[in-house]
Amino acid sequence: MEQYIIKGGKALHGEVSIGGAKNAALGILSAAIMTDETVTVENLPDISDIKVMLQAIEEIGAKVDRINEHSVRINGSKIDSMSIDYEFIRKIRASYYLLGALLGKYKKAQVALPGGCNIGSRPIDQHIKGFEALGASVKIEHGMIQAEAKELKGTHIYLDIASVGATINIMMAACLADGVTIIENSAKEPHVVDVANFLNSMGASIKGAGTDVIRIKGVKSLSGSEYAIIPDQIEAGTFMFAAAATKGDVLIKNVIPKHLEAITAKLIEIGVSVEEYDDAVRVTASDRLGHTNIKTLPYPGFPTDMQPQMAATLVTSEGTSIVTETMFENRLKYVDELARMGASIKVEGNSAIIVGVSGLTGAIVSAPDLRAGAALVIAGLVAEGFTIVEQVEFIERGYEHFERKMQGLGATMAKIDIEDEKAVQKFKLKVS
Ligand code: EPU
Repeated sequence: MEQYIIKGGKALHGEVSIGGAKNAALGILSAAIMTDETVTVENLPDISDIKVMLQAIEEIGAKVDRINEHSVRINGSKIDSMSIDYEFIRKIRASYYLLGALLGKYKKAQVALPGGCNIGSRPIDQHIKGFEALGASVKIEHGMIQAEAKELKGTHIYLDIASVGATINIMMAACLADGVTIIENSAKEPHVVDVANFLNSMGASIKGAGTDVIRIKGVKSLSGSEYAIIPDQIEAGTFMFAAAATKGDVLIKNVIPKHLEAITAKLIEIGVSVEEYDDAVRVTASDRLGHTNIKTLPYPGFPTDMQPQMAATLVTSEGTSIVTETMFENRLKYVDELARMGASIKVEGNSAIIVGVSGLTGAIVSAPDLRAGAALVIAGLVAEGFTIVEQVEFIERGYEHFERKMQGLGATMAKIDIEDEKAVQKFKLKVS
């Protein structure tokens, strides 16, 4: 078990390069097994969730060659199992994408039913509704979702919620259905578009991804492809907030500025300067930031995955801010941890009410989940003195070499073994 130790109070300066999008990669790696030909995927983030997904597809018989830390070659011609164990679902919920991929290709799949997780209860009724509409019979027995169909038939599906996961799962299965499928009220997130682009590069016929109506014309089979994943909007946004909160000056490279519009707009509103280039953004802040209110919404609204990092930035801004989470019921668990660092923040219903304080002080805090963990690191970078962030395994699910990238921007931060008291002392001595 490892932890981050941070000595805060230093502005971040320099350049950082953003990796491939985790949530696009999870869909793309699942879709890669839908052809018997070889697929090469580049710009994969080197994070633990991706390792688990690669293990899951290897386990069912796919050949996985890791070309280097950011590229992989996958061949799904020898898949010999249609069943994904709870072991994988427990580690990454997104292994349920293999349900759509296997059902599309083999008309049969069995995947452990994901339970709730740290951020909320997370039902998958819309995924199931979509598979049933395509003609599959779906039952849940002994903790497994079993889906089977003689044939999948194109259909009209209206999603009650614009769910990212349901859109991707149904889109995959529908690619190999007979006829045309229309998904209405589909999710519009950039990673939905990236998975659709990848499937199209394999010979699928998907139109309208990125709007709320997606039209999929089923094809007989998919072929091999070489594909590079889009940059991670949330990793980019996290560094934007870290730069702003520490009153730094950071050039964030390898991004698609359009995907960052909601984040950029909120930063500008609180007094941060954001310059946009073709594939980079520069974030600079010097004076104390102002207050604002945010409400999480599906894309192009403010992303739920950026909500904790925004709150960590607002706790030292001037005035009162309200941060409202509308997507997941348990995504404010970092509030008590920030309060331990001196923030004036409390939860009312599904909102965090923040009264900006002039500074934070370092403390031992624990990451309740991935994005909340990143938010606590931002708070640690701002705080006076030492902060220890425990449970970094959550953060490493979604951020590649987080501490190294922060060090590259001048942060005084290290990852050390939780048992290694000497390493803590050594770090403190070295940076004092
Ligand atoms: N929902 C249902 N029924 C369903 C599916 C979803 O009620 O069948 C609800 C959820 O409970 C939630 C809302 O719909 O309230 C939106 O959920 P969605 O399905 O869009 O989320 P997801 O696909 O489970 C992905 C990301 C999350 C991100 C959300 C929202 C992946 C692997 N995960 O989850 O990412 O927060 O979309 O944008 O793509 C993260 O990266 O830290 C993360 C949690």
